[in-house]
Amino acid sequence: MLKKCLFPVAGYGTRFLPATKAMPKEMLPVVNKPLVQYGVEEALAAGLDEICFVTGRGKRAIHDHFDISYELEHQIAGTDKESYLVGIREIIQRGRFASTRQLEMKGLGHAILTGELLIGNQPFGVVLADDLCFNEGPGVMEQLVAIYRRTGNTVIAIQEVAEEDVSKFGIVAGEEVEPGLYRVTDMVEKPQPDQAPSNLAIIGRYVLSPFIFELLRHTPPGKNGEIQLTDALLALARTSKVLAYKFQGRRFDCGSVGGFVEATNHVYQNVYQRGGR
Ligand code: UTP
Repeated sequence: MLKKCLFPVAGYGTRFLPATKAMPKEMLPVVNKPLVQYGVEEALAAGLDEICFVTGRGKRAIHDHFDISYELEHQIAGTDKESYLVGIREIIQRGRFASTRQLEMKGLGHAILTGELLIGNQPFGVVLADDLCFNEGPGVMEQLVAIYRRTGNTVIAIQEVAEEDVSKFGIVAGEEVEPGLYRVTDMVEKPQPDQAPSNLAIIGRYVLSPFIFELLRHTPPGKNGEIQLTDALLALARTSKVLAYKFQGRRFDCGSVGGFVEATNHVYQNVYQRGGR
């Protein structure tokens, strides 16, 4: 059973201050849709229609976005602006939404562990909405779900990055078991280029076994007192099979200002100007 997708959206988004002082980073619009909506669309397209948010203080706008806005609906009913809401209405109808709060921002691993309450004892997808991914064919989450269904193994999305960029990512080492699919043998969080086992970088899409919660519970905090997901994934890789898949498509790092601008230009030219919403 793979129906749930966890969205850790509790981070402060300090790289976007002051924009993120009173507004969640995940609500920043890439052209006409907030970042988090793209992620939810990708999860729904993969058949994961139980959407679980791990939020924090100041993130209320995310809940409101995935709810009906009666005044607004009433105001624009019967006008041509109604069409602007078709996409988000469909999402609200198709998805089921739940959330819990991470009380202290102790890192991605801690955010995922906080989500255990919503996920329970079943495999689940994870989308980091600030990695915005596009593909002409199936989305990245759909690609991972297909591999999970075929193999039953935890699977994470990876991409090749330039050597000078390895220090920004979790980097995996592995043996290629099929073209583009690796069995993970090692993982290093943000290594220096000369210490990196490869240039295969982990990006923000995962399908995880619920066993990860047990491992996260026993993962000691690392850098800045944060619990790293990479540490728990490495522990998982030592006891069972963890796969890493070089996904098809393109990723934009919308957690950084430069990546966000690139994504905006991409969506404006390739989606919005062609009439997409
Ligand atoms: P980032 O490392 O991008 O952190 O988190 P951030 O706080 O969002 O942004 P900056 O670095 O201050 O600009 C990666 C993902 O993990 C979530 C974030 O919301 C983001 O989706 N996260 C991170 C949490 O949910 N909780 C945390 O404690 C840390």
